[in-house]
Amino acid sequence: MKYDMNPSSFLIQIPFFPEQASNFAFEYDLFYLFLVAVTIFFTVLVAAPALYFLIKYRRRSHGQVPEQIEGNLKLEITWTVIPFLISMFIFAWGAKLYYQMYTPPKDALEIFITGKQWMWRAQHPDGQREINELHVPLGRQVKLTMTSEDVIHAYFIPAFRTKADVVPGRYTTSWFTPTKTGTYHLFCAEYCGTQHSGMIGKVIVMEYADYQNWLRGVPRDKTPAEAGEQLFTSLACNNCHLENGKGRGPSLQNLFGSEVKLTNGAPVKADETYLRESILNPGAKTVAGYTNDMPTFQGLVTEEQVAMIVQYIKSIGPRQGAAPSAAPVPAAPVAQPISAPAAPQVANPAAR
Ligand code: CUA
Repeated sequence: MKYDMNPSSFLIQIPFFPEQASNFAFEYDLFYLFLVAVTIFFTVLVAAPALYFLIKYRRRSHGQVPEQIEGNLKLEITWTVIPFLISMFIFAWGAKLYYQMYTPPKDALEIFITGKQWMWRAQHPDGQREINELHVPLGRQVKLTMTSEDVIHAYFIPAFRTKADVVPGRYTTSWFTPTKTGTYHLFCAEYCGTQHSGMIGKVIVMEYADYQNWLRGVPRDKTPAEAGEQLFTSLACNNCHLENGKGRGPSLQNLFGSEVKLTNGAPVKADETYLRESILNPGAKTVAGYTNDMPTFQGLVTEEQVAMIVQYIKSIGPRQGAAPSAAPVPAAPVAQPISAPAAPQVANPAAR
């Protein structure tokens, strides 16, 4: 698939600006330049006459009394309405851009990002991992699902004009379509400790075929969903969450994305955040018809492991379009590097 829609050629490349390498970059820069232009225009419009009047109407003799001016309604309405319209235009444009940037497309390639003092880990849908680098295919929509192991970080790719906080205890997302091959900066944009400035990396945009080759060259780890399934068994989640729904906990089949009724009657959407909360703080939202017997897994599983379990639950949910993470993966007994620990110390936390 050829992708050639980058309109950046219309905009003069400003020195000291990062390259425009994503679908957002051009409009983002245009918006920014518009704000700068409006600011300069009104600064001059106010400052120049002020300076002129300052000189023209200066006091010329002792005891000189200026003529009193009571106001000018037309002028006042004009300088209220025009700025109002301009600021509403800025608001509408900014809101549109914001909405686009925070609404990832459904069938985007999903990559997991974990921030940790002081490194960035990434895992691709088929399990390939990398540290402080992110390889992405040209012209494909890429969605980053991110969380932190410790403090707040922020994933900032200047060339893509995307930046999003990476927060412990929740999932945030960011998405983009790379429009230009090359290597770009990756920064942490939230002060996170002594080596914050060293928490940097590279984003490598490759042609789709090259990306596929690259993926093949990286030793494949278990996919997040596969690792999650293993955790699901090793943590004995499957003892209570039976598929037939007759266990002590609700069945998790087809759960993801559905609406769950809670004991207090309120509905809640079974999304990543809900699943995560239910693993770490099971009592927070109890499903109608059940009592909360589940122990917390806080401290027993890392954020990455929680993300894996969530991916597993997602994979047994209704099929997600063509999401590669939900697709069956060919069994290949590859040497497993840093995968999820096979059996965490707690053999069966759900044991009665
Ligand atoms: Cu991580 Cu700053």
